[in-house]
Amino acid sequence: MHARAAGHLVLVGLMGAGKTSVGRICAERLGLPFVDTDALVERHAGRTVAQIFTAEGEAGFRALERQAVAEAVRSPEPVVIACGGGTVLDPENRARLKDRGLVVWLDAPPAALAARTGEGDDRPLLAGPDLTGGIETVLASLADDRRLAYEDAADVVVETGDLEAEQVVGRVIDAYAAHQRGRRA
Ligand code: S3P
Repeated sequence: MHARAAGHLVLVGLMGAGKTSVGRICAERLGLPFVDTDALVERHAGRTVAQIFTAEGEAGFRALERQAVAEAVRSPEPVVIACGGGTVLDPENRARLKDRGLVVWLDAPPAALAARTGEGDDRPLLAGPDLTGGIETVLASLADDRRLAYEDAADVVVETGDLEAEQVVGRVIDAYAAHQRGRRA
């Protein structure tokens, strides 16, 4: 079987980019199963992402996340995969995702991401006492740190800042349809 045979639709981007909500709608419209790497990690660990960060630190979480990515892409049939925001930091994850699917980066300015995540968020990287400057500052710094990794991972970028969720879904589905046509041609 060809390495890219599965043709998954993979969504990457920072926290608040809309990967899970857009991914769910895309999966429904395309009639494909939906997989969220954070949910896979939580199911296997029997704990929440926040609990894993507390008990094992970020490194422990990243190890479980790597297993979840490997499991998600293994499906022989196409699936829609919403990746946790930091999955692209690992070169092995990037290679796996790119090899087995179309990787779409949902990008947005930090202010838009901050508005979508909000205060009281239980994401470990957006919680805690060391949030100097607030969520927007943290997201801006993560965006700087991760830009190259997202660029490397992505086949397609959708700038979501000024778009309604429905418009984002439309662009993602169009990109995926074009990709699938290209694969069949
Ligand atoms: C993380 C993003 C989260 C989750 C974890 C770490 C990150 O997923 O995987 O809290 O490093 O950006 P979402 O992007 O789905 O919120």
